[in-house]
Amino acid sequence: MSTPAKQVIVEPAALLAPGSIAAPEYSAGELEALRASIKQLLIEKDAVLVAHYYTDAEIQKLAEETGGKVSDSLEMARFGNTHPASTLIVAGVKFMGETAKILNPEKRVLMPTLKAECSLDISAPSEAFNQFCDLHPDRTVVVYANTSAAVKARADWVVTSGNAIDIVKHLHEKNEKILWAPDKYLGQYIKRETGADMLLWNGTCVVHEAFKSDALTNLKKRHPGAAILVHPESPDEIIQQADVVGSTTALINAVQNMDNETFIVATDNGIFHKMKQVAAGKRLIEAPIVGEGATCVSCAHCPWMAMNDLRNLKKALETECNEVHVDPVIGRQALISTQRMVDFNA
Ligand code: 13P
Ligand code: SF4
Repeated sequence: MSTPAKQVIVEPAALLAPGSIAAPEYSAGELEALRASIKQLLIEKDAVLVAHYYTDAEIQKLAEETGGKVSDSLEMARFGNTHPASTLIVAGVKFMGETAKILNPEKRVLMPTLKAECSLDISAPSEAFNQFCDLHPDRTVVVYANTSAAVKARADWVVTSGNAIDIVKHLHEKNEKILWAPDKYLGQYIKRETGADMLLWNGTCVVHEAFKSDALTNLKKRHPGAAILVHPESPDEIIQQADVVGSTTALINAVQNMDNETFIVATDNGIFHKMKQVAAGKRLIEAPIVGEGATCVSCAHCPWMAMNDLRNLKKALETECNEVHVDPVIGRQALISTQRMVDFNA
């Protein structure tokens, strides 16, 4: 007799606040029509869909059904760089579209929206960042992928959460001192892990900085067998409680490969779509984002990732609007540091 599949439970740690970000809703008829049109447009336009794990589940499904990619930011960049399609449609936030364009200046890069920012990218305007670099000419400039093309152009290396530790370790072994931007929590984590001399910019992710450590400790007491999975954009006191710290792909792999029945997950809740797919039967709980009685700001979902849906994706393909442009001079300079990221340990 076969065992019935256990249901995956995704439990919000707090009540959603009035301003919280809901997943897009489609009627059954609209959903089918959008899916069919997008599939057809991808063929007609010689386009491939590259999406991040935090985007709408319907976008993720479509990317996988059409030979595209759903992944973390490093693999999004690598996939777009090697896929033969002449058009990349990137569902995510602005820096992901710009990274695709920097790596593939000859391809057309479209996005469902060009308004999807990232608080880390916003925190590091290029002029201020250049001044900071000018003050520290002895340091190797390492920036997170969540930055503008102009900031990447100033950098020696671009990294993502998927390879930041390995790259900084490599530079530290060569006795290089590092200037790091923009995420201070990720920077502090890498500094601790590698022992490198790192000067940190003061940026944060609005989603990850909202996780609350006391509430996480209490949640863990109620689920003593749970493994705590944390994205390294989270504050130090959240990272200290983690069983696994890593990129979105690393956290998904942990849910799939670890023996625990229950996982407390400290990252954007868009990731639960893929986690449910790879680990049916496991219990997934959102890490707490607010103290009791308070309301949340981001509610563990990136407000900019949430701007992507099937409607604006279809429109972008149909009308070829929302094309990503990067100044060619900046793009050529940014390619040096960005290509290093893609090639490192590939
Ligand atoms: P990953 O590269 O781990 O997918 O992270 C990107 C991001 O923006 C997380 O907030
Ligand atoms: Fe940027 Fe945070 Fe959104 Fe990721 S989740 S895109 S780091 S604001």
